Amino acid sequence: MRKLEELQSLIASSVAELKYPEYPAELYEPIKYILALGGKRMRPALLLMACDLFGGDVEAALPPALAIEVFHNFTLMHDDIMDNAPKRRGKTTVHEKWNNNVAILSGDVMLIEGYKLMMQVRDNILRTVLDVFNDTAVGVCEGQQLDMNFETISNITIPEYINMIRLKTAVVLGGALKIGALIGEAEMKDAELLCSFGEYLGIAFQLQDDILDVYGNPEKFGKQVGGDIISNKKTYLLIKAQELVKGTDAEELSRWISLPAFDAAEKVAAVTQLYNSVNIRQYAEAEMQAYAEKAFEALEQINLPEESKQYLRDFADGLLVREY
Ligand code: IPE
Ligand code: IPE
Ligand code: MG
Ligand code: MG
Ligand code: MG
Repeated sequence: MRKLEELQSLIASSVAELKYPEYPAELYEPIKYILALGGKRMRPALLLMACDLFGGDVEAALPPALAIEVFHNFTLMHDDIMDNAPKRRGKTTVHEKWNNNVAILSGDVMLIEGYKLMMQVRDNILRTVLDVFNDTAVGVCEGQQLDMNFETISNITIPEYINMIRLKTAVVLGGALKIGALIGEAEMKDAELLCSFGEYLGIAFQLQDDILDVYGNPEKFGKQVGGDIISNKKTYLLIKAQELVKGTDAEELSRWISLPAFDAAEKVAAVTQLYNSVNIRQYAEAEMQAYAEKAFEALEQINLPEESKQYLRDFADGLLVREY
């Protein structure tokens, strides 16, 4: 079993070695820019860990691991256009630094570069792996569309929200683990259980992301704090707050959500205040813990030694106390 630090340094050096052409600069510069901004590199780490835990060849799993990271960065580049986000990993977003068209096309080519990397898996699993990758990519698109649709729908339920984040975020964690397991020649049943572990963990991870969007430390978070409040994202925090606030507070929350024009800082402060008045953070953290538990239950059923399961549990615990 390789140490997590070893896997992470392998990922860091391989990302740094990815080469893209110089010309046309507007197409390739943004790719180099976003990949150089770092991030947690958690998805490729999951893929490599899964492969390693089933005794697979970690070096052979590197191109698919990079594929997942390049794909993830493509989704971020497009997500930031859709979310009107000014900052990513502490720096100006691609569409703000260049423009929307550059971010669209640069993202498109990243998606294809991701597929080129994924195609480097050995021939006997190529079709199976591409099937998983395809399902993952379609899931993200469906989730992202729902995320945008929900901005203008007022009565979204918690189960609808959970399904939306499962699609936009969790399927990528599940897919990364499943692909890693397949490269490591795991039994399909175990690859699927590991995929469920990843999906539950991904739901917990997105709940945490939604909490950080409101309560993150602006110095460490690297994104605009309050972005979800500004765009009326139907996060767990907002849906639960709508259920819990009463009387004039309920009217005030509805008013902020329906205001077509407002001062962003004022809205963020007012909505955060309303969240605090009903302890929304605690509810969201409890929900996040509940999904972490479901992840651990799936993990229990996998045919792996206890030591390997503990490794994944520790990784999951580390992920869910993140600050960025
Ligand atoms: C951001 O993902 C998008 C979400 C699914 C919440 P990460 O939080 O993994 O972003 P980086 O890659 O570490 O920057
Ligand atoms: C992002 O959800 C999901 C994808 C990138 C597919 P968010 O919109 O919450 O991610 P951040 O907060 O911008 O990283
Ligand atoms: Mg976003
Ligand atoms: Mg988004
Ligand atoms: Mg977010």
